[in-house]
Amino acid sequence: MSGHGTPIPMTSRPCGPLKGEANVPGDKSISHRSLILGALAVGETHITGLLEGEDVLDTGKAMQAFGAEVINHGGGEWSVHGVGVGGFAEPDQVINCGNSGTGVRLIMGTMATSAISVTFTGDASLNSRPMARVTDPLALFGTQTVGRSGGRLPMTLVGAAEPLPVRYVVPVPSAQVKSAVLLAGLNAPGETVVIEKEATRDHTERMLAGFGAEISTVETDEGRVITLQGQPELKPQTIVVPRDPSSAAFPVCAALIVPGSNVLVPNIGLNPTRAGFYYTLQDMGADLTFENMREEGGEPVADLRAKFSPDLKGINVPPERAASMIDEYPVLSVVASYAAGDTVMTGVKELRVKESDRIDAMARGLRANGVEVDEGDDWWTVKGLGHGNVPGGAVCESFLDHRIAMSFMIMGMAAQKPVSVDDGGPIATSFPIFEGLMASLGAQLVRSNA
Ligand code: S3P
Repeated sequence: MSGHGTPIPMTSRPCGPLKGEANVPGDKSISHRSLILGALAVGETHITGLLEGEDVLDTGKAMQAFGAEVINHGGGEWSVHGVGVGGFAEPDQVINCGNSGTGVRLIMGTMATSAISVTFTGDASLNSRPMARVTDPLALFGTQTVGRSGGRLPMTLVGAAEPLPVRYVVPVPSAQVKSAVLLAGLNAPGETVVIEKEATRDHTERMLAGFGAEISTVETDEGRVITLQGQPELKPQTIVVPRDPSSAAFPVCAALIVPGSNVLVPNIGLNPTRAGFYYTLQDMGADLTFENMREEGGEPVADLRAKFSPDLKGINVPPERAASMIDEYPVLSVVASYAAGDTVMTGVKELRVKESDRIDAMARGLRANGVEVDEGDDWWTVKGLGHGNVPGGAVCESFLDHRIAMSFMIMGMAAQKPVSVDDGGPIATSFPIFEGLMASLGAQLVRSNA
């Protein structure tokens, strides 16, 4: 089943060494925020390197529906003519965020403190995901919500006409929830305070500061206390979106498991709240080097070189690192299959409410390909077989989840037999150039099941 039209079955065959440069697309999190903050600024924001994946394009369409002008100049260059904080018009259509939890949750926050009513929907995956984690704190501002049972989309939000400032302790480690509250706080008078016990990606805080908002983060015994002064005038920016470390994970992991590989991934964002995966790979014995560490547009950036690593070993992944690598667990479980010994991943309950239940989706596919997996509510263990010993040979379900589809494509590159997915269509949500880019490195991907 695909929410993106006709399913696109895909197969990845064992391949020779992967070599060359992998120019992965722009960061998904920063791309969404560039369009949203651009729409809230007064004047024209210029963006280069925007991810032109379906998730971000849906956010761009939504910003237009709220009255901002969003122009694609080609080649990843975009401009957004914003309407100012509190300037959103009521859209005359339902806002369809497709597959994107980030898109819908950030946009809900952004409109929640304007006196407009908005109905949101998405694809089958998004319409099954929990939204109460966002609408509960938005209710504290005075926002009203009517949705389906279980707090699911489709859902209508009636924004608060006279919003109250809010102090909110985020109960789950979620940058989407934190960001929704901060974005709602933009149009509330006074100070909005968000407290997170575990650090999650901080692009919203960095970018709000860049757009001229008064925002501070203080580490306390209670956690990270983020304070935003409401009703700022946001000033348009020139944004260079770094390449996405979560997309880079796929060519990097392919290079680690395919003998003889040597791949350079230039310009990837290495914000510490996103980089945990690369430290985990190094702990497993991966041959990774960070070249040209530098800062660009307020974000740390480096060129990353990954080489075939024949002696990967299983490890216990520290649970306190989970938030900084939450999107990389699916492909980590593939690398873990090629490592010697068990890789134990704990404190990862959030994986069950992503685009799919990612523990369940990966466990099913790994088992079908001959790899043993144990799992509990918030943990899983992959029993690594060591290099050259992964059987492969199965067709896996991708469950409308781009990262599940790409992970199994990586698995097939070094397995004994090809690995297939029922539907690679969702890959276009975050990494529309995945097939061409991997092929240019030497991967053998075909659109059909083996
Ligand atoms: C994101 C936050 C994370 C992540 C998602 C992008 C963001 O979700 O999984 O892909 O851009 O804020 P949660 O905040 O729900 O953990």
